[in-house]
Amino acid sequence: MIKVKSNNSLRYHVYHIVTLFYPAGKIEFLDEADVTKADIHVEVRGNEMTIDFFGEISSSPYPDRDLNVMRRALFILLEKKTEKHLPWGILIGIRPSKIVRELIEKGRNRDEVVQELQEEYLADKDKILLAYEVALKESMLLKTVDTENSVDIYIGMPFCPSRCLYCSFASNVYRGNQYKDRYLELMKQEMHIIRSHIDGNRLKINNVYFGGGTPTAVSDEEFEDVMATISDCFIKDRDILEFTVEAGRVDSITETKLESMKRYNATRISINPQSMNDDTLRLIGRNHSHDKVIEIFNLARDMGFDNINMDMILGLPSEHLSDVENTIDAVRKLSPESITVHGLALKRASRLYEDFLMEKKYALPSQEEMNLMYEKTDRMARDLGLMPYYMYRQKNMVGNLENVGYAKEGMENLYNMVMIEEIKTIIAVGADGVTKKVKNGKIERFANFKGLNDYTERFQEMMENKMSFLKE
Ligand SMILES: C[S@@+](CC[C@H](N)C(=O)[O-])C[C@H]1O[C@@H](n2cnc3c(N)ncnc32)[C@H](O)[C@@H]1O
Ligand code: SF4
Repeated sequence: MIKVKSNNSLRYHVYHIVTLFYPAGKIEFLDEADVTKADIHVEVRGNEMTIDFFGEISSSPYPDRDLNVMRRALFILLEKKTEKHLPWGILIGIRPSKIVRELIEKGRNRDEVVQELQEEYLADKDKILLAYEVALKESMLLKTVDTENSVDIYIGMPFCPSRCLYCSFASNVYRGNQYKDRYLELMKQEMHIIRSHIDGNRLKINNVYFGGGTPTAVSDEEFEDVMATISDCFIKDRDILEFTVEAGRVDSITETKLESMKRYNATRISINPQSMNDDTLRLIGRNHSHDKVIEIFNLARDMGFDNINMDMILGLPSEHLSDVENTIDAVRKLSPESITVHGLALKRASRLYEDFLMEKKYALPSQEEMNLMYEKTDRMARDLGLMPYYMYRQKNMVGNLENVGYAKEGMENLYNMVMIEEIKTIIAVGADGVTKKVKNGKIERFANFKGLNDYTERFQEMMENKMSFLKE
């Protein structure tokens, strides 16, 4: 256990830097008044900062109460001690490309952006350049978005064939679920209510995203029925730019469901491997082999789907660089139009997190391996002609890396960009759907119930509140 102490006012910020290097469960934070000797003690008095780092004491100026001064000093000490190289430096924020976009808007050129972010955040040049590339793409594509008179629609299917080890999304095992029929009925009702709101207010719909959970987790007939409702409410006779179906889990995708997706004009679908190693797929609880991913992908291609996305996760338990290389080779052969690369995040509501608390051991890749996994995946994407177009980071990501979407030119998913950048209203339908209302740059949120019991039993109350929220 590493004992850490700081002025109480700095506690939160010190904690964030230390957790980049040590797992949260290994850190004990002492109160400022505690007389116990700490391994790391950060103390600020006036314009001076003193750090006692495992017995080595250093003092330095602390001008303008600039937290980054403290963050950098502590980061450098930790990096030396742990010999871990964290490519984003002290940048913990969710959207690195937003910082870059703001600098570009202030007139900085590429070299100036690199220099500023290297100095301020100790970030690596290649990560800054990645954020720069994304920022340029965002500036170009987001300019085209009508943020005033149109909304985007998200529909969430909160069922999955089984729950993956790492996942904290609204996902309930479909088979034998007692709420399933009632839920599907109410979700369709919700779509009709939202359709009336949209038509009543003469709003346009640009992008529709059907995700989850797993949209295809339900039976072929139920899927057809839900797709028909989505189409009736949000697609038919409207000038839609994108209709994405995140089919996702190949053990739930059938030819009949792909036919429904075609019938209702899905423009982009996801077929997600996460990993193409059968041992990993078993460990994370995805009950299918890598062969199934290839089979379903080829079936979708044969049926004419020409915009297929694949999600990958880097840093999965038990995976080493050679495993990711295997996944990369398989994805390369399939040649999708876009890939979304996620760094494993330890989510509180996941089984993985619970297992960690129970000290169940998983071999997670080293930082060095993670960095190489990212490098190799980036190379594969570019070899396929896919360029980075959106990016975000999360808390508790293994190796503190990033999630990046890569796509062929013209195949970028606008919904994803709009959602991350929060530039226009997104109305979300279904359990755990979070509606974001964006008005004059201000963002307000309304969250549907996440639990199926609440969603089904308190639907009326939820919808009354939701409609008053939307009308405000
Ligand atoms: C809504 S989820 C899943 C879509 C679909 N149900 C599937 O599993 O293929 C969207 C994506 O988030 C990623 N994801 C989910 N949980 C994650 C975690 N804890 N760490 C990193 N990526 C995660 C996965 O790549 C997943 O495909
Ligand atoms: S990763 Fe996808 S399939 Fe797995 S539990 Fe989460 S939402 Fe469901």
